[in-house]
Amino acid sequence: MSADRQYRVGVVGATGAVGSTILEVLAERRFPASEVIPLASSRSAGSKVPFGNGELEVRELSEESIQGLDLALSSAGGKVSAEWAPKLVEAGAVVVDNTSYWRMHDDVPLVVAQVNDDAVEGHNGIVANPNCTTMQLMVALKPILDAAGLERLIVSTYQSVSGTGRNAIEELREQSQAILKGKEIEPRVYPHQVAFNVLPQVETFKEGDDYTTEERKVMAETRKILGLSEAVGISATCARVPVITGHSESVNVQTETDLSPEECRELLSNSPGLVVLDDPAKAIYPLAIAAAGRDEVLVGRIRRDPSHERCLNLWVVGDNLRKGAATNAVQVAELLHERGLVRVPEGAAPVA
Ligand SMILES: NC(=O)c1ccc[n+]([C@@H]2O[C@H](COP(=O)([O-])OP(=O)(O)OC[C@H]3O[C@@H](n4cnc5c(N)ncnc54)[C@H](OP(=O)(O)O)[C@@H]3O)[C@@H](O)[C@H]2O)c1
Repeated sequence: MSADRQYRVGVVGATGAVGSTILEVLAERRFPASEVIPLASSRSAGSKVPFGNGELEVRELSEESIQGLDLALSSAGGKVSAEWAPKLVEAGAVVVDNTSYWRMHDDVPLVVAQVNDDAVEGHNGIVANPNCTTMQLMVALKPILDAAGLERLIVSTYQSVSGTGRNAIEELREQSQAILKGKEIEPRVYPHQVAFNVLPQVETFKEGDDYTTEERKVMAETRKILGLSEAVGISATCARVPVITGHSESVNVQTETDLSPEECRELLSNSPGLVVLDDPAKAIYPLAIAAAGRDEVLVGRIRRDPSHERCLNLWVVGDNLRKGAATNAVQVAELLHERGLVRVPEGAAPVA
């Protein structure tokens, strides 16, 4: 790491599923913070959140509480980021944003650490973290893209409820218990019962679109991060499953040049941030419960698609709260630190 600089770091949305994980990861990785300030809405102001071996008091996100921050790691929803990221930048903080709001803006880099690190250069005060589903996919795809090129990508996801936040975790727990006891349930977070069910809907359908906003994000963000032209076909279907943490993805990838399953296994085994678990005859493959709590993305079931000689099938699993959000946000903060980029460029003015 560069210089001995220490930063005042604000964690916006610190009481949430992602924010609380950011606090965990900042402490685990000993990010050079002189102070960590948890911020949330007035609802949680004054409450305590765990940090390292102790606790920190949550402050309300306000014009006053954001003064003097060098960095803000933000995960309080798109509306909050739309309003507050420009204010944070104006107050002098570089924002690493976990929401979807800034991701597709032309002047906002969308960064997966160890995949497209150089994109942080030239930021205008905001760096966006991709969607959790896209994030783990990028870690697995980048080595394949570099080795054999990409012609087409088909992704089907099986996403955990923590991807929706703390209320959804609560909903799955409550529904599971109620159903086992034969009680009635009333869905609140999702449009249908999520316990003991699979929902072919993640997020919402915008009027006139038969793909969900999550599916659109996976397709658009993948293209932006990997710099893929429109000639590369991408298709995503996202489903919600009753798992607490860990998104699973069935990935069908068509390469430009030959890549055998053996070569792919070898390639991914030597790539950063990935662990290959692939001995299916011994029931060894990635599991959501094995990925939960880990920073690496797990890959397995690597096999030839029998319908196409340059297509491979893979099973990719990651912890949506860690690499999918918090770990990557902290890794991006580390990158900014290493490259001397924890500074708001002169005249930076993010446009909402
Ligand atoms: N969950 C994931 O796997 C994941 C992955 C990548 C990205 N994301 C994105 O990260 C964001 C947060 O997700 P989450 O899952 O952590 O949600 P969550 O568990 O519902 O937490 C939401 C957080 O935002 C805070 N908040 C809400 N309204 C606020 C306001 N007006 N001012 C200040 N703080 C406010 C909440 O604070 P209070 O306690 O005060 O309500 C809470 O800390 C979303 O944009 C989501 O799309 C989530």
